[in-house]
Amino acid sequence: MDSTGTAPDLVVVGSANADIVVRVERLPEPGETVRGSEARIHPGGKGANQAAAAARLGARVVLLARVGEDAHGALLLGAQRAAGVDTSRVLTGGAPTGVALITVGPDGDNTIVVSPGANARLSVADVRAGAALLAAAPVVSLQLEIALESVVEVVRTVGAATRVVFNPSPFPSPFAPLPAELLTACDPLVVNEHEARLVLGGSAGARRAPEESARALLALGARSVVVTLGAHGAVVADARGSARLAAPRVEAVDSTGAGDAFTGALAWRLGAGDDLATAARFAVRVGAATVTRHGAQSSYPTPEELAALRPAADSDE
Ligand code: RIB
Repeated sequence: MDSTGTAPDLVVVGSANADIVVRVERLPEPGETVRGSEARIHPGGKGANQAAAAARLGARVVLLARVGEDAHGALLLGAQRAAGVDTSRVLTGGAPTGVALITVGPDGDNTIVVSPGANARLSVADVRAGAALLAAAPVVSLQLEIALESVVEVVRTVGAATRVVFNPSPFPSPFAPLPAELLTACDPLVVNEHEARLVLGGSAGARRAPEESARALLALGARSVVVTLGAHGAVVADARGSARLAAPRVEAVDSTGAGDAFTGALAWRLGAGDDLATAARFAVRVGAATVTRHGAQSSYPTPEELAALRPAADSDE
């Protein structure tokens, strides 16, 4: 139940970070120092980003997260409320608000280092305290910037009819497989190609076609799979087969948070009853819109802005 006593469209359980962003002419190599732009602080964090993206599009969203009792926490709560997210389940205290150090290169590519702070204190007990909310949610979306044990507790707590959407980012360790009870709850598991390799236990360099990765992830137990391909769209797959979805052509300036916007939009549309391909086609457009503007949450489109985006060149839209 949300703060008004009704079930929301989407519950996001995850992280909230203050993103400290510096633009650079090229991303530094290990051991190298490069000069960058003035630093900016933006609201971010994969969970908060997903929640903001869906709410901006019109979804009723509750975020279950933890921030510090500090200025960054206040910034993040304000941004969530401005996007229309119900923040009554955002807990405060225990550690400083999480921080992400982000460099953005000229093509919009980035590097991100996250210091979890309060995100790491979102505990199993905090998840259990939200049991009624999780049981009533049509869809719950998860990532991995909070403790793995808290994520696993969510899939144990959700209702029988709740659909679980999970993006295993950042991936905890290439040497530790994800728990089977988490993988088998995913409908879908949402990964980029790098994450797909890690979930499959391969090295980051091992290449395979996204359709092949999706099939292998289904064989590991995921109920359905989405492999995101950035400017090339996405592949969706379930037991009935797979499909490749094209993305609209856009000029990318900053890809930060595009995957989170994709996943938040996807989760919302799945909870609203769209089939996987329809929801993912919508989410691809949302992801494409976000890369045309700077920042994570600050780049997320309204329905009107999304409607103005040109269709994918080779899709059936
Ligand atoms: O996915 C983008 C997000 O990753 C950023 O907002 C940053 O906070 C990190 O969590």
